[in-house]
Amino acid sequence: MTQLAVIGGTGLASPELLQVHAQENVHTPFGEPSGPITRGTLFGQEVLFLPRHGYGHHLPPHRVNYRANIWALHELGAREVIAVAAVGGITAAMEPGVLAVPDQIIDYTWGRTSTFFVDDLDHVTHIDFTEPYCEALRQRLLQAAARAGVEMVDGGTYGATQGPRLESRAEIQRMQRDGCDLVGMTGMPEAALARELSLCYASCAVVANWAAGKAEGEITMAEIETNLKGGMADLGRVLVAL
Ligand code: HPA
Repeated sequence: MTQLAVIGGTGLASPELLQVHAQENVHTPFGEPSGPITRGTLFGQEVLFLPRHGYGHHLPPHRVNYRANIWALHELGAREVIAVAAVGGITAAMEPGVLAVPDQIIDYTWGRTSTFFVDDLDHVTHIDFTEPYCEALRQRLLQAAARAGVEMVDGGTYGATQGPRLESRAEIQRMQRDGCDLVGMTGMPEAALARELSLCYASCAVVANWAAGKAEGEITMAEIETNLKGGMADLGRVLVAL
């Protein structure tokens, strides 16, 4: 059976429903992943689980070792990856609490090591990234959501920003003009690295707040946490169905 991995984002540091079998420390040529990888069973299905920000949520988005994380999951046999991500909503359908499965990405990050193809190359490689997410896994997530009775937006463009600060109103306006529906800090280079290793990778975005300037007032961590709680509960139901 294809080994499924779940990368947990903010609000999903340790799924309560995961029956843990082992914790694997993987050392990669690119350094250490965010923590040991949990091998377990989620509703009868074998899964690998890795919290992107570490088990105590101590790694900010720009300090995550994306290469080590993706390499380690691949090393342990992962072939499909569901990347859970907290995001801000930019366009009307992406209101707080909504789940979405994006189908495009724009990368606004900088200074992150974004490829495995750096040293000892016998030839330069350019991977195809026209469709950055694995369509088969996207469809399975959407079908699982339908079975679970959870509303999930099909598609949308995820804009990956550097963080850890949130964006300015003008930045969000520019992102909207560019075609972004969602904004998050971790989608890249994760998706591209997964593609470099031929992993089938899809993202399940949980909208935590209206992006900067899309609602009155400041964005607070309290608001983000409250919305994520509801969103993550829905996500749990989708994973059960999946
Ligand atoms: N911007 C970027 N990343 C985020 C946001 C946001 O508004 N909310 C949750 N993650």
